[in-house]
Amino acid sequence: MSAGPVPASLARDRRPPLLRLLAMARPLRGRLLGAAAAGAAATGCGTALLALSGFLLARASQHPPILAISVAVVAVRALSVGRGVSRYLERLASHDVAFRVLGQVRLAIWRRLEALAPGGVAVFRSGDLLTRLVSDVDATQDLFIRGVTPLLAAALVGGAAVTACLFILAPAAGVLAAGLLTAGIVVPLAGAVAARKAARAAAPARGKLAASVTELLDGAADLHAFGAADAALADADATDAELTQADRRTATACALGAGLMSAVTGLTVWAVLLLGVAATGAGSLSRVPLAVLTLTALAAFEAVTALPAAAIQLGQARVAASRIALVTDLPDPVREPSRPRPLPPGPFGIQLRNATVVYPPGGPPALDRVSLDLPPGRRVALIGANGAGKSTVAAVLMRLRELTAGTALLNGHDLASYAADDVRSVISGCPQDPHLFDATIGDNLRLAKPGACDEELDAAAARARLLPWIASLPQGWDTPVGTRGAAVSGGERQRLALARAFLASPPLLILDEPTAHMDPPARRALTADLLAATEGRAVLLITHDLDGLDQVDEIVVLDHGRVTERGCHRQLRHAGGPYQRLREGLGEGGS
Ligand SMILES: Nc1ncnc2c1ncn2[C@@H]1O[C@H](COP(=O)(O)OP(=O)(O)OP(=O)(O)O)[C@@H](O)[C@H]1O
Ligand SMILES: [Mg+2]
Repeated sequence: MSAGPVPASLARDRRPPLLRLLAMARPLRGRLLGAAAAGAAATGCGTALLALSGFLLARASQHPPILAISVAVVAVRALSVGRGVSRYLERLASHDVAFRVLGQVRLAIWRRLEALAPGGVAVFRSGDLLTRLVSDVDATQDLFIRGVTPLLAAALVGGAAVTACLFILAPAAGVLAAGLLTAGIVVPLAGAVAARKAARAAAPARGKLAASVTELLDGAADLHAFGAADAALADADATDAELTQADRRTATACALGAGLMSAVTGLTVWAVLLLGVAATGAGSLSRVPLAVLTLTALAAFEAVTALPAAAIQLGQARVAASRIALVTDLPDPVREPSRPRPLPPGPFGIQLRNATVVYPPGGPPALDRVSLDLPPGRRVALIGANGAGKSTVAAVLMRLRELTAGTALLNGHDLASYAADDVRSVISGCPQDPHLFDATIGDNLRLAKPGACDEELDAAAARARLLPWIASLPQGWDTPVGTRGAAVSGGERQRLALARAFLASPPLLILDEPTAHMDPPARRALTADLLAATEGRAVLLITHDLDGLDQVDEIVVLDHGRVTERGCHRQLRHAGGPYQRLREGLGEGGS
């Protein structure tokens, strides 16, 4: 894993997810306060502008000398410009904070996925995971853009407007304060409560829909082959309807908030006006301040107009942040030492002692006290029926799985005392189910060694018996393999994975069914080739092909996670044990 400023505040933290996001913004609090101040200045300018307009209109109607209103005229210009500039600065600063935090959140998710990916992130459906990484992270930006900054700005401007009105007419200031508190707190809370159910449903439904669509696309051929496409489409439709319903509920809550806001604004301004008119009638207030008072009250509501929608969006941001936290809080699939042991210089050897792996807690062991030695230069074949535990041995050695019991040693030290990436730089190879990227054959191969020269690529491809096929393609090495290798055959995919393993050439090579998907002559030829190519190096060959195993140093037979037989071909071929029976089953009993 590469080093860098890991946003640790998101990883396995007990605080509520939105608070964790706020904590991530702590180093940026200066900018956040700046954004709030600019937001307050913008809204304040707007409010003052309307108040001043009231003054100008009312005063102008009294036909004063132009000098008496010239200051106000200049102030109107200054406030108009100030409003635009401060709003721009507020947007700039709040988006800057939001995007910086979003970047950190994406990094945190990515770091976690990077740690989890080798062992699989199967707890999440791929479309749902993508939604968490993209839409959910995007949704959290509302915390800074619509949440924190407007709230601070509303408090400042609302307070200032009420104070200003207090100097004009105290009872009207009281009414305005009550109206602003209702519009700024009660209405947003009511909207958020009305949209709570929808906010909880929308993000998961969005994830579910993305997962359904991804699976529909990936499994389209199988769904059609078994006539299950309609049912699967109906399933996606149902999720879509769920999402639409949640969005409709949110829209209704937003509309309700906006309507209530207008009603509260109207009622408050009317009440202020009536109080002002009464005071004017009583002679305690002249007409110019009355205009200023009424328009200030009207303008002050600009500070709280956006709050109901913001409260609803914050509800959605909260759900999104929890969904993100579920990813960042996943435990490590394998323990990483706090101070990893440096890799010895080599040569390398592995020992498994009583290795036991239990997948679901309480389930049957996939590996049951397996012991295995792979000293430098030794080649061991691991054979056994489907589900016997062969790939699990490979997963343990490549630090993709933790042992439930027993020990795994690399050069005499616990495998877990090395960094997992270091272990994988020594022990790796060809997985049972290799992944091809939607890129060219050359790019897919170069993945194992990015700086490899053409000769090295040719040599690796030749060893995997891939070269004649590549040469026969019109685009040769530049032929695209399609999504997940869909544009090449299963056997070709497997050979490409094998060529990758040869190119990477780790000191301890693990080949998990390298000849899968190949026709019998190709299997035999490739097994013979790879045994010849790997002479003198440590190899763990997992295979169902029992031909040619006379060349390996040891054959280990697994059955239901246990070693049922071990020895060399010469010892086992007529021993009457599982190896002989497996060979007879395959019609290979002759040699
Ligand atoms: N991620 C997993 N979660 C739960 N059980 C698992 C998981 N991976 C494997 N198993 C179970 O562990 C057992 C051993 O699986 P493993 O993949 O090691 O078998 P295998 O010998 O490689 O089989 P095959 O020849 O089919 O590749 C099986 O019963 C399998 O169902
Ligand atoms: Mg397997």
